[in-house]
Amino acid sequence: MSGAAIPVDLWCARVRPLPREAQALLSQAEQQRLGQILGTEERAAYVSAHLLKRHVLAQHLKCSPAAVRLKTGWNGRPELCDARALSFNLSHSGGYVALAVCAEAPVGVDIEQVRPRPSARRVVERLFAPEEKRLLLTLAEGEFASAFLRLWTLKEAFIKATGEGLARSLSSFAIDWRQPRLLRGAAQPYALAGFSLGTSYCGSLAAGGGLSMTLRKMDATALLNKYT
Ligand SMILES: CC(C)(COP(=O)(O)OP(=O)(O)OC[C@H]1O[C@@H](n2cnc3c(N)ncnc32)[C@H](O)[C@@H]1OP(=O)(O)O)[C@@H](O)C(=O)NCCC(=O)NCCS
Repeated sequence: MSGAAIPVDLWCARVRPLPREAQALLSQAEQQRLGQILGTEERAAYVSAHLLKRHVLAQHLKCSPAAVRLKTGWNGRPELCDARALSFNLSHSGGYVALAVCAEAPVGVDIEQVRPRPSARRVVERLFAPEEKRLLLTLAEGEFASAFLRLWTLKEAFIKATGEGLARSLSSFAIDWRQPRLLRGAAQPYALAGFSLGTSYCGSLAAGGGLSMTLRKMDATALLNKYT
């Protein structure tokens, strides 16, 4: 394990409807997935997210966006075919997409829209780790709502960084969201961090192999503007 902070790039953009030609950059597999998405907003989010992913990865790999070759790894985690240790992860929620890229360690990102979640306490009781329940369920409503969203996104970012996704039981690891850190549940250290996108979205990142990360936050609007 290195004691140095893990450098993570975070690209965020508002979803916008993109012209049909923009879809031509997507791979056959991505276009097939897009074909299964019916909602206009969901389709725009999918195209925005995957174009952003292709553009940013192409800059790293010094190739064209269409030439970036991807495969689906263990448990459905999308990965580069290229052997270089460049890790990326996507998240979309409502009107935003986020892409995390890290050249040194497996990375995961999750964003969620801030909105009322009437079943949040039940989710905690049923799914979260005992340490998390003890801390969360004693909070008063206003404090609980923001703590829940922070912890939820941290937990999702973690299972996306490990690549396990929902194959990993959410009670099998515990996170302290207040100064984000993993309390238990991994053989190696993970650096965790929270971020926000305005007041309407809560986001979190996880990166394996170290205890801290240096976050470079980038606005991806200009990248997507090329297509509008
Ligand atoms: C991967 C997962 C964990 C995240 O899903 P999500 O939060 O609904 O959606 P996000 O937009 O944040 O992430 C989806 C992206 O993650 C990536 N992804 C898919 N499987 C993944 C895996 N095993 N590991 C890492 N990333 C993965 C994909 O790029 C996917 O986007 P795409 O389908 O457009 O390619 C998913 O397994 C899931 O179904 N989550 C359900 C949410 C839930 O119930 N959470 C409980 C509260 S803690």
